[in-house]
Amino acid sequence: MVKFGSLMRASLVCAAILATMFLLSRPAKSEGAGEATFKAKCAACHGADAAGKAAVKSPSIRGKTADEIQKVISTSPKHASLKSLTADQVKELAAYLATLK
Ligand code: HEC
Repeated sequence: MVKFGSLMRASLVCAAILATMFLLSRPAKSEGAGEATFKAKCAACHGADAAGKAAVKSPSIRGKTADEIQKVISTSPKHASLKSLTADQVKELAAYLATLK
């Protein structure tokens, strides 16, 4: 019985580890880099669905291209904190925004 108990515990621990690994690996696969950047850097002002927020006078940015995003980052004071985004991140953002159209 003791043996069976520890075996059970061991397999429960194994199952828990596997389940954790599975859960941890999922977001990386289902959420693209552009979506992650959008949520972290843009959603607060432009809304979770990129449709814009009247409260902060931000427009919808659905379907905005990399060029449009790059321009706003380099010219708009509201986006001054985003100058650290790389060209690749801007491209990924545009790819994500294109899926929201
Ligand atoms: C601090 C709030 C804020 C954050 C954060 C923010 N924006 Fe904006 N955004 C605005 C506001 C307000 C405008 C309206 C024009 C202006 O003031 O620059 C705007 C305008 C834009 C426009 C121009 C839209 C148009 O139709 O002319 C684009 C493109 C844009 N944002 C993209 C982004 C992206 C991409 C991010 C994240 C990387 C982002 N913004 C993060 C507030 C924000």
